[in-house]
Amino acid sequence: MSELPKIAGRTPTKVSLEEGKNYAYCTCGLSENQPFCDGGHKGTDFKPIVFTAEADADMHVCMCKRTANGPRCDGTHNSLPAES
Ligand code: FES
Repeated sequence: MSELPKIAGRTPTKVSLEEGKNYAYCTCGLSENQPFCDGGHKGTDFKPIVFTAEADADMHVCMCKRTANGPRCDGTHNSLPAES
């Protein structure tokens, strides 16, 4: 995969997860329902990260789509190049 995902946001967003519920985290940045997948990745090489919440908990979810620990923010947004 050579294309970079679209930056959907330059700071993480906090989401409240429900234990046992399935989520599909958007990795392409094209979803209109950030941070979750809405099928907007169709036609790209991106696929959502599907996961099940292990507990009722808040998570800081990556919005820049550059995290190496998706869907969690790993701080990569702090080293993004400035917006042009
Ligand atoms: S819309 Fe981005 S991964 Fe599905």
